[in-house]
Parts: sequence; structure tokens; C-alpha cells
Amino acid sequence: YGEFNQKIDYVFKVVLIGDSAVGKSQLLARFSRNEFSVDSKATIGVEFQTRTLTIDQKTIKAQIWDTAGQERGISVSVNLINEMDLLEPEILLEIQQNSSIKFIMMYRAVTSAYYRGAVGAMLVYDITKRQSFDHMARWLDELRTHADRNIVIMLIGNKSDLGSLRAVSIDDAKEFAQRENLFFMETSALEATNVESAFETALSEIY
Ligand code: GTP
Ligand code: MG
Repeated sequence: YGEFNQKIDYVFKVVLIGDSAVGKSQLLARFSRNEFSVDSKATIGVEFQTRTLTIDQKTIKAQIWDTAGQERGISVSVNLINEMDLLEPEILLEIQQNSSIKFIMMYRAVTSAYYRGAVGAMLVYDITKRQSFDHMARWLDELRTHADRNIVIMLIGNKSDLGSLRAVSIDDAKEFAQRENLFFMETSALEATNVESAFETALSEIY
């Protein structure tokens, strides 16, 4: 995890999307810091973490963006600050530390800034919450509206450690992934199952 002063061959921006509480932030915590928190707070605004890794002898810096699954449902009138569309990540982080009201006002602008330049996307649902899987089509719509057409998309069924509560079969997920031309993997951020592998597969497809 601590690879400093290295020559970076590529910087890849990857975005996490999916309903609230599916485990996006914990997948990111697991991948970037090998951490997991049971009492994870809902994300407000936008955050990102980076991790540098080597794939095929190339040093790749993955910049993984994470946002709230929830605020996307809020339909406050937000076109007040259209020029915010031009926001840079540093400014987003600053705003994130301010009030969430302001942030909600900028929802539309943030949506397009969030996807801009992304070369990979992790589309995450919770295998124990059918609705989070049913919403994948909507998230995919949003992704295809805002992101580059060549973006690599990985469908992730998270919380595979909760198999006894499963509400989405692997077959259903595979079928959806095949139809929509996505990669697919089940993960557990809690048990660290397939997290590394999911990000690495996506990153090596990009590269
Ligand atoms: P928003 O920020 O609101 O969009 O949610 P999120 O998708 O970032 O969810 P978050 O990572 O905060 O996780 C939500 C809850 O699910 C937390 O209580 C986590 O501890 C739990 N959780 C996340 N990943 C897993 C997992 O792999 N297994 C289990 N059992 N719980 C998990
Ligand atoms: Mg979160």
C-alpha cells in the first residue's frame, strides 16, 4: 500500500455508484487502506482515495471516487449554480467540508463532474437487497448519459458474506451483466473477498 516516489505510468479515475448502504465506501476503504468499518456513515458529497499498484509492469495510480447513493434521489432545484460544473476535485473536497445543504444545491453540477474523465465504474448492489439490484438499470442509465462511452463497467454484488440472506441470485446478476456487457463479481468488503480482484480486473481492462 505504501509505494512512494514511484514513476507513475497511468492515472485512472474510477467511480463507485449504487444505492445507499450497499457498501461502496467500505469497498473503497478495503481497497485503498485495507480497512473496514461496521458503523460506516453515509457518505456526504464526494470523496476519493488513491492507491498505486503494478499491473503488467506498469505503475498505475487508481483514483477511486465515492459519492452518496442517497442524495441522488433528491430533486431539489439545483440549477442555481451551473458554472459549478467546472469544479475541480480539490474544490469539491473543500465544499464537502462545508454544509451539506450547499452540496445538495449543486447536485446536478456534481453529477457531471463526478463522471468526467472516469475510465472505469464499479456499479455496486447489495446481494441481500433486491431493490439495490433492481436499481442497477437506472444507475447504468445515468452512467451512460454522463460518462465516456468506452468506460469499463464492473457490476459488483457486495456483502457476499451474508449468503443466508441472499435476495439476488448469481444467475440473475450474470444475465444482467451479459446483456449489458458488464464484468461481474461478488465481493465482501467485510471479509476482503474479491475486492482486490474486482478493482484489478477493472483496472487491467482499462489498461
Ligand atoms: P452511502 O454512502 O450512503 O451511499 O452508502 P455506501 O454504499 O457507501 O455504504 P457503506 O460502505 O457506508 O456501508 C453501509 C453498511 O454496510 C455499513 O454498515 C457497512 O459496515 C456495511 N457493509 C459494507 N460492506 C459490507 C460487506 O461486505 N458485508 C457486510 N456484512 N456488511 C457490509
Ligand atoms: Mg458511502
